[in-house]
Amino acid sequence: MILVLPPDLSAATLEQIQSRLEGLGCRLFLSSGEEQTVVSLSGDFDPLAVQAAAAEWPEADLIPLQSDRAYRFERRRRRFLAGLILSFGLLAAAALAIPVLDFLRPPEVRLELSGPARVVSVDRFPAGTARRLRFRGRTVMVAHDLGGRFFAVSGECTLADPCQLEWSEERQQFLCPCHGGVFDLLGNVLDGPANAPLLRYETAVVHGVLYVRPAL
Ligand code: FES
Repeated sequence: MILVLPPDLSAATLEQIQSRLEGLGCRLFLSSGEEQTVVSLSGDFDPLAVQAAAAEWPEADLIPLQSDRAYRFERRRRRFLAGLILSFGLLAAAALAIPVLDFLRPPEVRLELSGPARVVSVDRFPAGTARRLRFRGRTVMVAHDLGGRFFAVSGECTLADPCQLEWSEERQQFLCPCHGGVFDLLGNVLDGPANAPLLRYETAVVHGVLYVRPAL
């Protein structure tokens, strides 16, 4: 705390105030200037008692600064909170970074772990076309759409296996020649008697090569 007093305070009044404060356990440091006299209070005093005393001196202005102990406590509290916020920030950043890094990681490792994958050279796979592959004993239709994305679905109709699907470049859809079933690039039924979507496969392009594997 500091006590700000007017500079023209009589010596007797100042002495009286000092004496009262010292009686309350305050250690005093006076600084007298032309505009004001500042009394810095330190020591293990009761701030409420000092406030009560200061209320009796209308010419005094008591500014409630923190005691050393309160200041140290507050400083420790703020450091603890800052550390806590930093820790949460790092944890949140890590939580965000993990899926991003997972997304950016080249898919070769996963492909290797998931077993052999059928390979197609992207250079020989024009946009808008599709091709039929044999993969793990099944027929797979792989399409390269006009937006440059690759899709892979089962090449066998879900209504009457093994009716083989055809690719319509004009419609950009898979057609079943047996009963007119129509499927989109994701294998969803668009038309016809088939009532189940096609089995989907995952695709990944790595260094210009298209890999296909069963969806996990
Ligand atoms: S077998 Fe595919 S719609 Fe009939």
